Amino acid sequence: MSTAAAKVGVNASAASNETGYRTFKLGSFTFRRDEYFAHIDWTVKGKTMTHIMSADAFLTAMMRDVAWGFFYGWVNFDSMIGTRNRYGKVDMYAGRYAPAYHERGLDLVEQFETPEILATFKAILADWTNEGFDPFAAPEETGKAWVGKKRGNNDAAIDRQRQSCKRMPGLPGDAELRTDANGYPVNRAFADVTQEEPVVNAAPGFENEIHAMNLFAYLSRSDVTWNPSVSSVCGRSLFCPTTEEYILPIKHGNDRVEWFVQFSDEIEWEVEDKETGLPRAKLTMKPGDVAAMPADIRHQGFSRKRSMLLVWENATPELPDMYETGKLKPYPVEF
Ligand code: PHB
Ligand code: FE
Repeated sequence: MSTAAAKVGVNASAASNETGYRTFKLGSFTFRRDEYFAHIDWTVKGKTMTHIMSADAFLTAMMRDVAWGFFYGWVNFDSMIGTRNRYGKVDMYAGRYAPAYHERGLDLVEQFETPEILATFKAILADWTNEGFDPFAAPEETGKAWVGKKRGNNDAAIDRQRQSCKRMPGLPGDAELRTDANGYPVNRAFADVTQEEPVVNAAPGFENEIHAMNLFAYLSRSDVTWNPSVSSVCGRSLFCPTTEEYILPIKHGNDRVEWFVQFSDEIEWEVEDKETGLPRAKLTMKPGDVAAMPADIRHQGFSRKRSMLLVWENATPELPDMYETGKLKPYPVEF
């Protein structure tokens, strides 16, 4: 990915004398930042449209978009701007899913090759993230360093990749189980989670094929929030557990059904119509609750205390088309 990105040009201005931040252009979009805000401008019908977001909301959203490789479907940074994954290409939009803009033709959707938009987003993140601010961290675990003029950077935090396992964690040939020694101490919110691992007695010759792990212990050491990691792959079925605290920085628009299993604590979800943003449902998930998130919604989670969530994704590539053409209903069960 980095090799491809390195070949793509990024249109960036010199650092501003006033704030120290660079301004970036991507197609007809311009991205500027100042001490508090990200400004996104686009031109339509000869007019310059402007959108403003708090810089921390912008950076935490863009961090997910980059780390997730644009994810499944839509990543709404807020109700106005975001990206849609076309799997090889990516649409960047402003106002497309805000009816007041879309109905008046004041919205803009432009398509980019994935490496081009990725390189631009990475460059914006690198330039706009100050030293001491980690856009993956819970608010209590990072500073207010997103505020103010440009001060250093935090490349170590923003270059962190979502961890993918080739096999179940703990089996030989896969990533090391998280440990204190590897820099993953138990999070303050999960001090009561037992770190005991199950005892496995494999028959001789099967030591490499049978395994069990304490997933709660694994998750208790997660150092990031709202960042599902692919922890097991079985055909097209991906188990992506994650730890959540504060607010999911994006409103995800699903292009397929996904399942949530609440492992611990509580998350409130706001579910809206994907196209219009009109409210569809409010949902409070408690430990053991299971929900199917439909393919025609956008949703955002709120977690007062750090919680554990299993996101279960179906990676079948044909799914977005099957939902879009009506071949599949947007929900998995009819009651
Ligand atoms: C989702 O959009 O389904 C999603 C994304 C990230 C999370 C949880 C859920 O941490
Ligand atoms: Fe989702």
